[in-house]
Amino acid sequence: MELSKIFEERFSVRSFKDTPVEDSKIDALLEAMRIAPTGHNDQPQRVYVLKSEDAVAKVRACTKCAFNAPLVMMVCADMTAAWRNRYSGRSAAETDAAIVTAYMMLKAQDMGLTSCWVHHYDPQKLKDAFSLPENVEPLNLLPIGYAAEDAAPLPMHFESKPIEELATIL
Ligand SMILES: Cc1cc2nc3c(=O)[nH]c(=O)nc-3n(C[C@H](O)[C@H](O)[C@H](O)COP(=O)(O)O)c2cc1C
Repeated sequence: MELSKIFEERFSVRSFKDTPVEDSKIDALLEAMRIAPTGHNDQPQRVYVLKSEDAVAKVRACTKCAFNAPLVMMVCADMTAAWRNRYSGRSAAETDAAIVTAYMMLKAQDMGLTSCWVHHYDPQKLKDAFSLPENVEPLNLLPIGYAAEDAAPLPMHFESKPIEELATIL
């Protein structure tokens, strides 16, 4: 699909069909995750594909925002592996994880799937539930699946501010 069409058609979906996501599509999502750019190409992303009944039940117990998606990508980063800005000391981990998540979100849309970016969770709960290593932080959740018939954008979807308020052209 043309990229501009993907941008136009995407909205956050919070209600999914039971239909599982095909393994070939999961592979394509993981390839998008793999080739996403990261700071200094340090590739700190660590992605957990939550698709088994057990894994999906666990993530749903940690957040109401896994919704009823048949698949949840838990995008984490190894905080010790991410590039750091030598001047500010700031880690690129969250930026890297955001790029990886955006790539998968757009790839999902390209393949007829839908998703919702999620931050509404207690990271420690996820760390405990999935026995994540100490240095691995869950930074984004991405529930993915086929949109339910009644899935519709929330009013917020249409509330994008005008370009003049968001961008400065010098
Ligand atoms: C960083 C980030 C965190 C978000 N967290 C949540 C969340 O926890 N729960 C939720 O339902 N939507 C969440 N969203 C979705 C936003 O509410 C949504 O993207 C925004 O309202 C614009 O709507 P649209 O995605 O339909 O265009 C999040 C989006 C982003 C980018």
